[in-house]
Amino acid sequence: MKAVVYKKKSYPDKLVLCDIEKPVPNDSEVLIKVFAVSLNAADYRSMKMRIIPKRKIFGADIAGQIESVGKNISSFRTGDEVMGDLASYGFGGLAEYVTAPERAVIFKPKQISFEEAAAIPMAAVTALQALRDKANIQKGQRVLIVGCAGGVGTFAIQLAKYFKAEVSGVCSSKNVQQTLSLGADYVFDYTREDFTESNKRYNIILGINGNYPLLAYKKNLTSNGIYVMVGGSISQIFKSLLFGWLLSFGSKKMKSLAAKANKTDLEFLAKLLEKGIIKPVIDQCYPLDKTADAMNYLKQGHSAGKVVINIEPK
Ligand SMILES: NC(=O)c1ccc[n+]([C@@H]2O[C@H](COP(=O)([O-])OP(=O)(O)OC[C@H]3O[C@@H](n4cnc5c(N)ncnc54)[C@H](OP(=O)(O)O)[C@@H]3O)[C@@H](O)[C@H]2O)c1
Repeated sequence: MKAVVYKKKSYPDKLVLCDIEKPVPNDSEVLIKVFAVSLNAADYRSMKMRIIPKRKIFGADIAGQIESVGKNISSFRTGDEVMGDLASYGFGGLAEYVTAPERAVIFKPKQISFEEAAAIPMAAVTALQALRDKANIQKGQRVLIVGCAGGVGTFAIQLAKYFKAEVSGVCSSKNVQQTLSLGADYVFDYTREDFTESNKRYNIILGINGNYPLLAYKKNLTSNGIYVMVGGSISQIFKSLLFGWLLSFGSKKMKSLAAKANKTDLEFLAKLLEKGIIKPVIDQCYPLDKTADAMNYLKQGHSAGKVVINIEPK
């Protein structure tokens, strides 16, 4: 099969299209024919930190069709259309076939494409766990989403609206219209306006992208507001982990999220997709042999929604 394999010594890009052996599922796994896979910061960050999957194939968010099932599998059959996040199961999605335990995948809603399905798992589950589990979002609350235009942010806007919050987003000029069309009530274009200088206060701030000091987030919270660090630069993430607890003295809370793939959460999101309540935003689709270009594009940190790799069905 064709797969994009990590090759440490390959220059300039370490992601190389190769012909390799098709994986064989064990008794408790399914074999999936992959039709689309979306990229995440988890792919390029793991690569940077030299945390390389066992089979040297990145790609966690997949959508495809069950090719065969191990003898202990009861919930899926050959031909079922599925989607899932394989980050906790060895990645491997940037290939024509991948194996996965049945707990890693769910049925793909019929009315969405494979590209859309692949765009969902990690980013949408992260947004859900940040808003619902870490921030305990409530109807009528004021929510600010900093870095609202990327993979996680575009789901965060839609989910915050689903929870009936008043939503503001922070992004650059080119993404203002997209943010409003996803339902945001107000947008800060960070090239023209600094939200930290506004006198607006928020019950919840999600810090997804952007280099704002922790104290600036704290200042913009209501007296019992909650800040959730979802992502950003490595230095920002470390500062949040080191000093977040210190800044949490008092009634304002500064938290960090470590999202976990969760089948129940993904099924919940699939229901919202089926009902048209949320939809994935796809910035660009690339063919498998252009994965290195797609990864380089995502790494720049300005994609408007998700970056997806298409794997042509043969
Ligand atoms: N905590 C967890 O468990 C968890 C899970 C998943 C992801 N993450 C992290 O979440 C972060 C975002 O992931 P993602 O998939 O959404 O990334 P992404 O798709 O690459 O996000 C790119 C977006 O960030 C925006 N951005 C860049 N600089 C900004 C700034 N100064 N202010 C506001 N927005 C800015 C860009 O908007 P403009 O082009 O308009 O600037 C762009 O749309 C990453 O750091 C990732 O590691 C964390």
